[in-house]
Amino acid sequence: TYVIAQPCVDVLDRACVEECPVDCIYEGARMLYIHPDECVDCGACEPVCPVEAIYYEDDLPTEHTPYLQDNADFFFDTLPGRDEPLGSPGGAAALGPVGVDTPLVAAQPPAP
Ligand code: F3S
Ligand code: F3S
Repeated sequence: TYVIAQPCVDVLDRACVEECPVDCIYEGARMLYIHPDECVDCGACEPVCPVEAIYYEDDLPTEHTPYLQDNADFFFDTLPGRDEPLGSPGGAAALGPVGVDTPLVAAQPPAP
């Protein structure tokens, strides 16, 4: 899968969303997350991100490796204020912004 990492926090450029053929890039509150089961590894999102937040899982820089698990946690863990995990919604546009983040992302300092 491809992964969105910390540089997306508070940027949310959303250029990646326009490129994704399977609509598997979902919006939290402070960043977007790629669904690891819905992503088909087409790679179209990676070059369009202006802050280079997107990586193939095996290419994540060391400081961003926690985001592989964290993108998955956004879907398969419960999130603050939600009783049920999101699971596999099958499309980000229909779901809309979720409005919350994983604990890791929520704890990031505000972008300068
Ligand atoms: Fe974030 Fe880059 Fe997409 S800033 S919303 S990963 S284009
Ligand atoms: Fe979509 Fe990027 Fe995966 S464009 S299919 S999230 S590699």
